Amino acid sequence: MHRIEIEIAEQPDVIARLLKDQRSNAEKIATAIRAFAPTFVCIAARGTSDNAARYAQYAFGAQLGLPVMLATPSLHTLYHAPPNLSRALVIGISQSGQSDDVRQVLADAQAQGALTLAITNAPDSPLAQNAEYHLDIGAGEERSVAATKTYTAQLGALALLTSALAGDAEHFAALDQMPGHLAATLATSAEIGSWAQRYRYMNFCVALGRGYNFCTAFEINLKLQELCYIPGHGYSEADFRHGPIAMIQPGFPVVVIAPNDRTLPLMRDLLVKLRERDAESIVISDDDEALALATRSVRLPTGIPEWLTPLTAVIPGQVLAMHVALAKGYPVDAPRGLNKVTVTR
Ligand code: AGP
Repeated sequence: MHRIEIEIAEQPDVIARLLKDQRSNAEKIATAIRAFAPTFVCIAARGTSDNAARYAQYAFGAQLGLPVMLATPSLHTLYHAPPNLSRALVIGISQSGQSDDVRQVLADAQAQGALTLAITNAPDSPLAQNAEYHLDIGAGEERSVAATKTYTAQLGALALLTSALAGDAEHFAALDQMPGHLAATLATSAEIGSWAQRYRYMNFCVALGRGYNFCTAFEINLKLQELCYIPGHGYSEADFRHGPIAMIQPGFPVVVIAPNDRTLPLMRDLLVKLRERDAESIVISDDDEALALATRSVRLPTGIPEWLTPLTAVIPGQVLAMHVALAKGYPVDAPRGLNKVTVTR
């Protein structure tokens, strides 16, 4: 079995462990955040971790009324012109905790008096050691170069922090259901694997989501790029309509994330347009109508609150990228030209 397959399958257990081990730490961090009363949140991260940061923009924004900006690390490392983050909660998200530019953003912010938090899979790393607070995602070693379980664990950590800051039992109760929902989503893997040959010659692909699942579109696209070397882009449904839809011609592969939530009417409408253009659509949804508009469909479990759907919706994309890479004959655990730790200056 490939490492990535094992790591994808571990995700329900990783989330269950995170919720058990980190709840009291998340509550302690939430107390510090309340006392600091930040006016905004700034998140520094790269790659997959940056996609988790996009999730926080919606979770913190919609659930807590906290605006979230993504950091511009080059301002700190190349231009030596750190912006004023003194009233911010500054979060560094990094599976390895080794990214020096992420560490620099937190160091500059801390010198300005900001509150700093590291979310990593490496408690002994420089990022975890230097931040005032650390939330350990505890995903266990991730040996496959492409991140899978560390991504969902980062989402889980952000959801846990959201629940602790919201301070109500309902958020925690919904989160506690997630390991079961992740396991149910994994049950779709064999079917996705059975389509791999159909996509063996796929040379480009776009992924579309909206709102909470904007991050999912980005992350699925990144997995297809890293594992299958397929050029493409993740788009918000809103942006896609304003021009890029012109690319769509018969057979153009599109992954569409359309859970049954506030975004659904918009996503259904887009699916109709994609169908009119004969796109090859892979639809990830729990809505019958959206699934019926697909060329290939993946059914998500029902009953997941909108703010938690990114934890499940990404899994079929991880599985698809892995199977297509295998069908293409690529080394899924060690894609060409990639290292586990990306060093940026
Ligand atoms: C993940 O699939 C990618 N290889 C990449 O985004 C990776 O997650 C990132 O470069 C690692 O940086 P981090 O350790 O700071 O998260």
